[in-house]
Amino acid sequence: MSDFIVVANRLPVDLVVGEDGSQSWKRSPGGLVTALEPMLHGRDGAWVGWAGMSDVDVEPEVQDGLLLYPVPLSEHEVNEYYEGFSNATLWPLYHDVVAPPVFHRSWWHTYVQINQRFAEAAAKVAAPGATVWIQDYQLQLVPGQLRELRPDLRIGFFLHIPFPPTELFMQLPWRTQIVQGLLGADLVGFHTPGGVRNFRWLAAHLAGSRLSGSTTGTGGRPGEIAYDGRTVKVGAFPISIDSTALDKLAKTPAVRARAAQIRDDLGNPKRVVLGVDRLDYTKGINLRLHAFHELLMDGRIDASDTVMVQLATPSRERVEHYQQMRDDIELTVGRMNGEFARVGHPAVHYLHQSLPRDELAAFFVAADVMLVTPLRDGMNLVAKEYVACKFDLSGALVLSEFAGAAIELKDAYLVNPHDLDGVKNTLYEALTMLPEDGRRRMRAMRRQVLIHDVDRWARSFLHALGLPGQR
Ligand code: ADP
Ligand code: F6P
Repeated sequence: MSDFIVVANRLPVDLVVGEDGSQSWKRSPGGLVTALEPMLHGRDGAWVGWAGMSDVDVEPEVQDGLLLYPVPLSEHEVNEYYEGFSNATLWPLYHDVVAPPVFHRSWWHTYVQINQRFAEAAAKVAAPGATVWIQDYQLQLVPGQLRELRPDLRIGFFLHIPFPPTELFMQLPWRTQIVQGLLGADLVGFHTPGGVRNFRWLAAHLAGSRLSGSTTGTGGRPGEIAYDGRTVKVGAFPISIDSTALDKLAKTPAVRARAAQIRDDLGNPKRVVLGVDRLDYTKGINLRLHAFHELLMDGRIDASDTVMVQLATPSRERVEHYQQMRDDIELTVGRMNGEFARVGHPAVHYLHQSLPRDELAAFFVAADVMLVTPLRDGMNLVAKEYVACKFDLSGALVLSEFAGAAIELKDAYLVNPHDLDGVKNTLYEALTMLPEDGRRRMRAMRRQVLIHDVDRWARSFLHALGLPGQR
């Protein structure tokens, strides 16, 4: 039994079963693990989550002092709870409906059942009076379900994706149950004050909650709402990265040498433009390729001295929108190279692969311009990772206004990703910026990212949740 438990859809590691039946683990994809993993280092605790593979029984095990407590899912449950309700209903709905959300009653029923399974697993692992920190949109009913099972626990919930505008959320047939589920927590956290405002409004209109404290939760301090005879805190906690560790990694001779090697392998172009994302339709990958393509077509940049690299981690490959988007992106890359590559010198290098952290750091060090152009993103840690790696103050960040990170990284080249001409012009501006202006911008962004790191994020959330010993 543990005093501190994280509950997330995935464990921090995914199970890998070899052809001979041997079992090993690899790091799970996505920003949630990037953020939470360093926070749990050196803390005794437990992590309740799915092992990333259906129909396998995995025993709980301790890795580096952390108890991994697997929640099993069948093939059918993965299909309805994870691919269906989480990633074809909630994901597009919460990301400004950039793809149409699909509503299926059977998916909802499975979501309820699986959330109950996670709640029961957490209830089993939690010591009396323990703190349980539930993560993300896949588990929004767990706070309420867990409170029913274990009223003695201190329960926090953090949403890693945007909380949508109220009129979009109201489309959801099960909107009241979701809001009531979240209100089961003692503290509900979002990335931005906008998320807090949306939630407060919905909690009042759908669940009859009232503002009870003097603060609203949007000015730095969590607000308080009264619900069901309890006080629920609601606040904005912008997530971050382990910036000091990444800064240190980027400065190592090995990473710097690898960065130089990457530029060499790319043919030593004058400028390297980089994109790094989970392959997701919210990330605006195709539109940034179009912007680069049009700059080549307009003759404003030349493929012989400016190359683009797009690294894309495979993601949710059985969900239809993801399959369509992958085809579109690969078609665009093929077209661009068909028109602008020379033998041995592609205009766009595209890797549909997940890379190790030090290799990724080397790409960040090597890149002159980083393109982060999501149509909507809760935070976007890649933007912060790039900044953390630019210890020599080189480089420019082109960042979508619709990423949570834009609130903090005001010295990025901010773009509206729906405005293709705007993205083209801003990319061109970043490629041709005066070095002194670039250094000034990067210095300011680094100050922000190095001070506001993931440790500070976790401490401020846990402090607001009332966990002793947090600043
Ligand atoms: P999301 O949570 O939607 O995936 P974030 O930008 O917040 O988006 O986090 C993505 C995380 O995944 C970052 O830590 C980033 O470094 C990592 N990542 C993205 N692409 C790759 C890749 N090709 N290989 C390895 N890690 C990647
Ligand atoms: O918050 C973004 C998120 O959905 C996390 O919950 C998740 O860990 C990550 O992206 C990767 O997504 P998935 O687990 O669906 O591969």
